This record gives sequence, structure tokens and C-alpha cells, in this order.
Amino acid sequence: MSDGLEDIVVAQTILSDVDGQAGRLVIRGRSLDELAGRARFEDLANLLFDGFFDDLPADLTASLAATRAEVFKVMPPLDEALLALSPFDAVRALVARLADGDDLATALRLLAGPAVFLPAVLRAQAGKAPLAPTPGLGHAADLLAMLHGRKPSAAEAAALDTYLVTVSDHGLNASTFTARVIAATRAGLVSCGLGGLSALKGPLHGGAPGPVIEMLDDIGEPANARAWLEAAIDRGDRLMGFGHRIYRVRDPRADALKAAVRNLASQGGMAPGRLAFAEAVEAAALAVLKEKKPNRPLDTNVEFYTALLLEALGLPPAAFTCVFGVGRMAGYIAHAREQQATGRLIRPLSTYVGPAPRIAA
Ligand code: ACO
Repeated sequence: MSDGLEDIVVAQTILSDVDGQAGRLVIRGRSLDELAGRARFEDLANLLFDGFFDDLPADLTASLAATRAEVFKVMPPLDEALLALSPFDAVRALVARLADGDDLATALRLLAGPAVFLPAVLRAQAGKAPLAPTPGLGHAADLLAMLHGRKPSAAEAAALDTYLVTVSDHGLNASTFTARVIAATRAGLVSCGLGGLSALKGPLHGGAPGPVIEMLDDIGEPANARAWLEAAIDRGDRLMGFGHRIYRVRDPRADALKAAVRNLASQGGMAPGRLAFAEAVEAAALAVLKEKKPNRPLDTNVEFYTALLLEALGLPPAAFTCVFGVGRMAGYIAHAREQQATGRLIRPLSTYVGPAPRIAA
């Protein structure tokens, strides 16, 4: 038995490769360095979907924009019960109402849905009316426009595009595996996407960046970092934004996002000193982890700079995991289609360690 399925290979994929020793991520033959900061989210969706839909256009930009408009038009009323939920749970409930299927139209609605629902839910929770998508904007820019009610700057749109591209796919992580298990039963893409989102929510997976902000706020200033971090480890807590099942070196996505955050900061898109403070906390955390956990190489993961980037874009921490889901949905859809095309029903075994049945006297 392998605890947590560590080191077990359960699928072949042409979608992405995570090299944990070299700290390298490849998506359909392109390294992350080549994609992050250069490709737009729509390019990544095209790259991931290539070969999985017969009617895939050469560029998804126009059809995805049209689908955002359509999804907004038929969005169910955001009632009191829905708005009482966390933004993540409210968006998941809205995604659950999309019609299921396996075709490109379903895939586009699933891709558009979270990007349209999240700003609408955040605005409604703040007592503001949801805003319709803006024709002509890309997926990332449109999400920010629907949230803030203004066209984002080029630097803001580029930062969110870099983020969505960076998190679009990452091998057989917990939520993508979940999506593939569901796909293997031949349930539709919406079911796969919903399952993926539900697995993403946990703090050991996509739920870490909100707590990264809580940690930074609690530390307050660089001089407090070491003592705060040591006390956290001594209590048995995990430092959010550090460690990874596969990476034994630095997660390459952390550097892609740090570059995007730097770019945003250089354009005045961040509170002064915020990046330098986060870098000081990161350095202290790495030193403390090295001392306290010498047997396990623990380095910065994707979630640390995710938190800074999304904060700078004006997203509240409660929405961070949902934005992750906006990007990762492209991966869930591609993996689900690949699983449907090539895979068998996934049905592993367990070893029963419970009591034996009583023998009737
Ligand atoms: N802080 C402190 N200690 C840690 C951390 C951390 N962030 N991560 C792992 N460890 C320690 C564990 O306590 C354990 O120590 P021990 O042997 O002394 O008990 C050892 O490292 C091994 O831990 P495992 O749980 O076996 O490692 P696993 O591969 O299952 O964990 C995980 C990976 C869940 C990501 C872990 O590193 C973690 O909890 N990190 C914090 C949460 C986080 O940032 N999640 C986002 C990950 S990226 C993503 O999913 C998108």
C-alpha cells in the first residue's frame, strides 16, 4: 500500500509533466518559463484542449467571450441563502446548475462560469449589482472588469493572465485526479469540474493562499517573522505556501508568480513595501523549515506568491481559491476528455482492517 498514493503512476497523459527533482513544469511540450507572462489564458485553453474536441476553433477568445455573455444572461438569481455562503461555495453552487455534457459548448460554459459567477457573487455580497461582461476583453481582464467596474490596467490584466496560465494544469494533483476519477465513470464535464473544485478547496491544496495573507498580517513586520514561524512549527502547524508532495526543490510556479508580482509592484500596482515584507517572511520561513524539518526539503510553493498577486489585484482572500479554480478548470476539462478517450473505470482496492463478522451461535 502507498499512503496518499505517493509515487504511484495511475495514468498516461499528454497534458503536463511535473519534474519534482528539477523543479520544472511542462504543459503540452512548452515549459512554464515559455508560457507564463507570454501566453494568455485563452491560448492555454486552446493548447490544453487541442485534439480533445472536433470543433475546437484555432482561437477560443471570441467563443469564450460570447459564452461569458451567455452565462451572465442566464445566471440564476443570487438569493440570500446563496450569498450567505463563502464565495467559493456560492460559485460552486452556481457551477452545479450548469447543464452537464461532454461537448465543447459545455466545456466553454464550465470555463466561463466561475469567471462570471465569482465577481457577481463578490459584488452582491458587498451590496453592489453584478456587472455584465465587457465585449472585447480577454478572460482575465473581463473578470477584473466585472469585479471592479472599470477596465483593468494592462499590467493588472497581464498579472491575472500570468496567474491563470501558471495554474492551468499541473499533472495529477489531488483535484485533477478527482476530475479524472469522475470522468472515468462517464459522468459529464460539469460533474468533473465540480468534483475538481471541491477537492481544490482544502487548505492542503488550493485553499492555502487565504491563510498566507492571515500569516503575513499576523506577523505584521519582518522583525517578528522568525519567532512567529518557529512558534507555529513548534505547535505542529504547517506554514502555508511551503512544501509540496512532488517538488523537492522550489516550485517553478512560485518564481513565475513572483516575477508577475514584481512587475505589478514596479507599475505601482501594490502597496509600497508589501513585496519586500513578503520576501523577508519567505526567507525566514525557509530558514526555520530547514532547521526544524531537516529531513524533508521544504521550499516555497505556488500559493505564497499567489496570495500577494491576487491581493494586489483587489481580490479578497476568501476569493483566492476560486480564482485558482478559474484557471485550473481548463486542466480539469482537458484531463476529463483525455480520461474519457483513453481510460478505464478507476477502481482501486482497499485492505479491510475492521472487525471480522460475528459468527452466529
Ligand atoms: N510546514 C511545516 N511542515 C511541513 C510543511 C509545511 N508547509 N509541509 C510539510 N511539512 C512537514 C510535515 O509536517 C512532515 O513532517 P514530519 O515528518 O516531521 O511529521 C513532513 O514535512 C512531510 O509531510 P507530509 O504531510 O508527508 O508531506 P505531503 O507531501 O503530504 O505534503 C503538502 C504536501 C500537503 C502540500 C504540505 O507540504 C503542506 O501541508 N503544505 C502547506 C499547505 C500548502 O501550502 N498547500 C498548497 C500546496 S500547492 C497546491 O496544492 C496547489
